[in-house]
Amino acid sequence: MSEIKVSTFGGALAELDVDVLLLPVFEAADSASPWESLDEAVDSRISEAIASRPFSGKLEKCLAVPLPTGGGPGEIVLVGLGEAGKLTSSRYREAIAGGTSLAVRRHGERIAIAAREDAKFGAEHAAATTEAVLLSQYRFDRYKKPDEDATRLAELLLPADDGVDEAIERTQHICRAVTWARDLINLSPSEKRPPVLADLVAEMAAEVGLGCEIIDEARARELNMGALLAVAQGSDSEPRLVVLEHAPDTVAAAAPIVLVGKGVTFDTGGISIKPSGGMEDMKWDMGGSGVVIGLMRALARRKAKVNVVGLVGLVENMPSGTAQRPGDVVTSMSGQTIEVINTDAEGRLVLADALWYTQKRFKPRFMVDLATLTGAIIVSLGHRRAGMFANDQKLSDRLLAAGDAVDEKVWPMPMDDGYDKDIDCDIADMKNVGAGRGAGSVSAAKFLERFVNKVPWAHLDIAGVTWSKAATDVVPKGGTAFGVRLLDRLVADHYEGK
Ligand code: BES
Ligand code: MN
Ligand code: ZN
Repeated sequence: MSEIKVSTFGGALAELDVDVLLLPVFEAADSASPWESLDEAVDSRISEAIASRPFSGKLEKCLAVPLPTGGGPGEIVLVGLGEAGKLTSSRYREAIAGGTSLAVRRHGERIAIAAREDAKFGAEHAAATTEAVLLSQYRFDRYKKPDEDATRLAELLLPADDGVDEAIERTQHICRAVTWARDLINLSPSEKRPPVLADLVAEMAAEVGLGCEIIDEARARELNMGALLAVAQGSDSEPRLVVLEHAPDTVAAAAPIVLVGKGVTFDTGGISIKPSGGMEDMKWDMGGSGVVIGLMRALARRKAKVNVVGLVGLVENMPSGTAQRPGDVVTSMSGQTIEVINTDAEGRLVLADALWYTQKRFKPRFMVDLATLTGAIIVSLGHRRAGMFANDQKLSDRLLAAGDAVDEKVWPMPMDDGYDKDIDCDIADMKNVGAGRGAGSVSAAKFLERFVNKVPWAHLDIAGVTWSKAATDVVPKGGTAFGVRLLDRLVADHYEGK
């Protein structure tokens, strides 16, 4: 994807050489007073538009106001922010994303966004604006002829102010990581089979300066990763575990934060095969690993002062003559045995060994895993929030708050002991599915918990939020990379330099 350039402007709005200038306006604003001199320069067209009220200023309502030609912005787009008292950062992002898409439809290649009328343009504001524009303009065009008539945004200009340049730079790193992860999630499953995906990650790691180690099948066998290998055995593509390390010198001695991602590059279900309708969706069953990889990239690029390890388990779940069978009993790296009742509950098998391995090797400060683990979490929470299962209240509270702050929301789910019985098994230490139909996401989490060894841990079931089927102004259709911004915020708010 071609990059959108972001920079700042000083001086008069009326003299900005841009195709479109966006002016954010609150509902019921009765004058153009914040922009008096601009209004004068454009023959009062702004105050006329506001007074004549084809434009209410309601949230997500926009109005294009063409301007007299000759110098300055070609056109103004008024962007409704809704009621002043109700403005939140997520409403602001929605408004800006909506205004930007209108500006781009009106052939804005170079656009500027003015400060909100009530605010000075500080760092936080710059970050939210940059994020809304860059992420809403993301397109996945690898497999499609470009539409010659469509305008693509090339440049965004924001008001210069204290801290704005740094905020823009940092936000660009995060957005590039998000779009990089989205690209991976959107990629055709034949182009991201585990060894290929592992190499792509290693290339990225070398480019941004992350430590990278690839564990191949032979090594996984030496490590006794029987659960992960059982999933991989149905595919003629070998599994890979990729370990990424971000350990700046000043904090390298601290216990690392460890993030683990489910990376099923395609999930057919295996012998317990899925119905064919919608099976193509299972190319995004590596969403958790995409997020972990993307976050590591962002942390490296923005030189975060924190010690973090990202580990992804990459496997393809296929039916074949070599595939595991329902009824097989496998021995995980932890030594615990698992009766595989359903080969479609493969993510937890991969994570069981990945979690065990990371704890043994890295002695984490805490762990978070991200996985498109269960369809059941979509029944519980839909597509708005990820399910969060945690054994530690502080970590849970922090994730909840970070998610609300960046609009990648999570919701706490129960983990009480009673649910643990659901995965007890007559012939092995546990089975890989719960009893009956209920609480499928909880039994999956309880399964993972059996591979967590007295470490603060949270599991995010992102099956409902990794992919968006309906485009909104803020999030285009396809891979969302939900979780990159959430975890970046968690790290920034609580662990950097500490
Ligand atoms: N990758 C799926 C979960 C999934 C389903 C993600 C739909 C996104 C959309 C996972 O591997 C799976 O198949 N889970 C099963 C578990 C069941 C067999 C216990 C499920 O949710 O049906
Ligand atoms: Mn599955
Ligand atoms: Zn799966």
